[in-house]
Amino acid sequence: MGKVVVVLAAGFAVATCVVASVMVGRSVRRRRRWRRAVGVLEELDEGCATPIGRLRQVVDAMAVEMHAGLASEGGSKLKMLLTHVCNLPTGKEKGTYYALDLGGTNFRVLRVQLGGQRSAIIGHDLDRQPIPQNLMTSTSEELFDFIATSLKNFVEKEENFSGASQQERRELGFTFSFPVKQTSSSSGNLIQWTKGFSVEDMVGRDVAECLQQAISRKGLDMRVAVLINDTVGTLALGHFHDEDTVAAVIFGTGTNACYLERADAIIKGQGLVTTSGGMVVNMEWGNFWSSHLPRTSYDMDLDVDSPNPNDQGFEKMISGMYLGDIVRRVILRMSQDSDVFGPVSSKLHVPFILRTPLIAAMHEDDSANLSEVARILNNTLEIPNVTLNVRKLVVKICDVVTRRAARLAAAGIVGILKKIGRDGSGGIASGKTKGGSQYKMRRTVVAIEGGLYTNYRMFREYLNEAIGQILGEDVAPHVIIKVTEDGSGIGAALLAASHSSTL
Ligand SMILES: *[C@@H]1O[C@H](CO)[C@@H](O)[C@H](O)[C@H]1NC(C)=O
Ligand SMILES: *[C@@H]1O[C@H](CO)[C@@H](O)[C@H](O)[C@H]1NC(C)=O
Ligand SMILES: *[C@@H]1O[C@H](CO)[C@@H](O)[C@H](O)[C@H]1NC(C)=O
Ligand SMILES: *[C@@H]1O[C@H](CO)[C@@H](O)[C@H](O)[C@H]1NC(C)=O
Ligand SMILES: *[C@@H]1O[C@H](CO)[C@@H](O)[C@H](O)[C@H]1NC(C)=O
Repeated sequence: MGKVVVVLAAGFAVATCVVASVMVGRSVRRRRRWRRAVGVLEELDEGCATPIGRLRQVVDAMAVEMHAGLASEGGSKLKMLLTHVCNLPTGKEKGTYYALDLGGTNFRVLRVQLGGQRSAIIGHDLDRQPIPQNLMTSTSEELFDFIATSLKNFVEKEENFSGASQQERRELGFTFSFPVKQTSSSSGNLIQWTKGFSVEDMVGRDVAECLQQAISRKGLDMRVAVLINDTVGTLALGHFHDEDTVAAVIFGTGTNACYLERADAIIKGQGLVTTSGGMVVNMEWGNFWSSHLPRTSYDMDLDVDSPNPNDQGFEKMISGMYLGDIVRRVILRMSQDSDVFGPVSSKLHVPFILRTPLIAAMHEDDSANLSEVARILNNTLEIPNVTLNVRKLVVKICDVVTRRAARLAAAGIVGILKKIGRDGSGGIASGKTKGGSQYKMRRTVVAIEGGLYTNYRMFREYLNEAIGQILGEDVAPHVIIKVTEDGSGIGAALLAASHSSTL
């Protein structure tokens, strides 16, 4: 009996020993894995660093590339396209104007009534419709007849309803968000279709003229007064509300910017004569590139895997289309290098599965146990049961990726301001007083639109913080970021007003 107890006790002691050493081994291994996971994060953080000195280099690079792009075609990765739009709305416009916004699989028609006082957009009405699938690959006549018919119905419905009889010819602003070579403020030739359209007989033709002909075929008395890209609409809407608005930036799925350039800067570069004070230049800034941009292996992999490698380099670091996928790539690496996420989930190999709104939700999860992070990891990536510390790592990844994006975007904006002498660094337009060092910085407004900025608070806060840091406390208060809404719709109608033949 006693013997048995002794044997059992000895066996137990051995077992305890084994268990203890296994546990020690496990915890050592666990610590090592944890260190590898943290290592991935630290390396990311280092690769994404955007200290103020580097941001200043990006500011300078942006201004230099803008010069180069204006000076000659192909002089920079920035296309710096002349829009020929010179008359931005001022708020004094009166009357009823229309807009057509065609930018994807839906199109919208709008009617805006203006009362001559800037805040008073008396009303606007809107109709949104999908483009039937078969028309996206048919002929220009079929496509534009369909659109013109909807336009005519909308005009009649609105005018029947309001009882208004149109005395003057109706004016329309046309937002066409596909690559176009602009030849005047109201004409431009389609370079190529994107987004699933392939109406072959349109390529190379004047888009505004195709629409104008369809409108005439339907017997509607309406003139296509302006043809614009969506960014230009944002600038127009910003300028309508506030005449100090000099630039507009879109932060959505993609990103682009435009700004008001001085006429002499354009005349020098492209031999153009304009009579007015300036012209809107569409930068196509998503394609900006500079060796000063902090680029990681994740960015390079994303670029290689994309349908347009070596293009849109800036966009791939800052826009809503890509931020989620950068985060996914980092989590995948972390999951492979350590096993803090358990076995590597097959979902982590699916490109673009982690969309940017999800990383915003994880980043802004303020619950004590990060339950939203846990939910998204489980539901979207099929990674269940991660510890609180691992959830914190995920939040940190979102933070690093989004902070870099927002700070680079801020540097891009200040680069534009620098190009036009509105960054307070003493350019022609900064208005140094004769007295000496004290100068008066002109109030400067930048219009911003897009879900990445409006829906992602941390992106917005980092962007504004970085603009303040780059400009410094003397200049920053003079630079105002204003959100506009629906520049591609209302902005186009406002431009139809400021380009109206009947004003
Ligand atoms: C508008 O009124 C005209 C004339 O009364 C009518 O012919 C037309 O069908 C109406 N259109 C709509 C869309 O209601
Ligand atoms: C206009 O906008 C669209 C989408 O926003 C873009 O793809 C296109 O390249 C832009 N530029 C021009 C010159 O059309
Ligand atoms: C987080 O805490 C809440 C409430 O305390 C609880 O209901 C939830 O299950 C927790 N979630 C996770 C993932 O631990
Ligand atoms: C994790 O996801 C699975 C499958 O979507 C679901 O059945 C389960 O309830 C989720 N668990 C938690 C804790 O949310
Ligand atoms: C996750 O944790 C729950 C509760 O602790 C457990 O029932 C479940 O089996 C775990 N799932 C996985 C996949 O480990």
